[in-house]
Amino acid sequence: AFTPRIFSGIQPSGGLTLGNYLGAIKRFVEKQDEEFETIYCIVDLHAITATLFEPDVLRRQTRELTAGYIASGLDPAKSILFNQSQVAEHTQLAWIFNCIARMGWMQRMTQWKDKAGKNTQNASLGLLAYPALMAADIMVYHATHVPVGEDQKQHLELARDIATKFNHDYGVEFFPITEPVIEGAATRVMSLRDGSKKMSKSDPSDASRINLTDDADAIAQKIRKAKTDPDALPSEAEGLEGRPEARNLVNIYAALADQSVEAVLRDVGGKPFSEFKPILSELAVEKLAPISTEMARLMQQPDEIDAILSKGSERARTIAAPILKQTYEIVGM
Ligand code: ADP
Ligand code: NA
Repeated sequence: AFTPRIFSGIQPSGGLTLGNYLGAIKRFVEKQDEEFETIYCIVDLHAITATLFEPDVLRRQTRELTAGYIASGLDPAKSILFNQSQVAEHTQLAWIFNCIARMGWMQRMTQWKDKAGKNTQNASLGLLAYPALMAADIMVYHATHVPVGEDQKQHLELARDIATKFNHDYGVEFFPITEPVIEGAATRVMSLRDGSKKMSKSDPSDASRINLTDDADAIAQKIRKAKTDPDALPSEAEGLEGRPEARNLVNIYAALADQSVEAVLRDVGGKPFSEFKPILSELAVEKLAPISTEMARLMQQPDEIDAILSKGSERARTIAAPILKQTYEIVGM
């Protein structure tokens, strides 16, 4: 039996969004107080697969994401918080996994298809290999559970496939078959401008997302301008079918309020968006303003952030190093 252990990560590829918060970080925080050991990573090696950053920009975004984690409630005393590139075992295991994973598996990934675009010959090899590194991120800790948003489901299935094939090829039961944890009312927060696209830090339109660093006015304005349909809110969840924008705003409300969609609709069903939007803004500001204030305070202390990451990477290595060593032994190295 494996120790119940959670691993997850976020790329320092830009400012954090409400999607990252509700789909990932808020879940990470809740898991700290359950029966798991919790390990949370800033996956900087993933961030450079699609775009190279100015070194200073990447360094700042790494600190900003760390500040976002801590400001949201991740506690370095309860969880291991660290930066992927500081623990070399991730890339060492990733190489083994590159040799286990099949080209066809990688080319089927929808994120690869989306991000590589039509000219795949010009995409980086790292972008194609990204999910094998992600599998290594998880397996180098023998993580049993991985909380993520819905968009990462396919990559987690691939991680399970890699673990299964490794175990099978070497005749061992060494890597766990990790469970994805995709739960809550906001596993896929959509763009505020287009109900068919997910909210993302890499969307060129700032109006499409709420950033954790947005102030109260920006949050209120983005919600006021969010795309909706002309009808009032339904009083039951079935009434959201075929109404992606309405569903999205209700999901966001439910997740922020820690309520079910049904409970939210019992309160706001029948209201037009002109009444619901200010209620949603008020809740969003109430929940997010303390996070952005704390992030700004932490960003004044970069040395403290670096010290937390450096300590976290030492702790991470105490788990990862023996697992990598055993992997090498299994492989014959
Ligand atoms: P992004 O897509 O914003 O660049 P990442 O790829 O770094 O973010 O994802 C970090 C975590 O946030 C993952 O668990 C991912 O599933 C989650 N996540 C990202 N966007 C959303 C969203 N719009 N709704 C819910 N979860 C999301
Ligand atoms: Na993502």
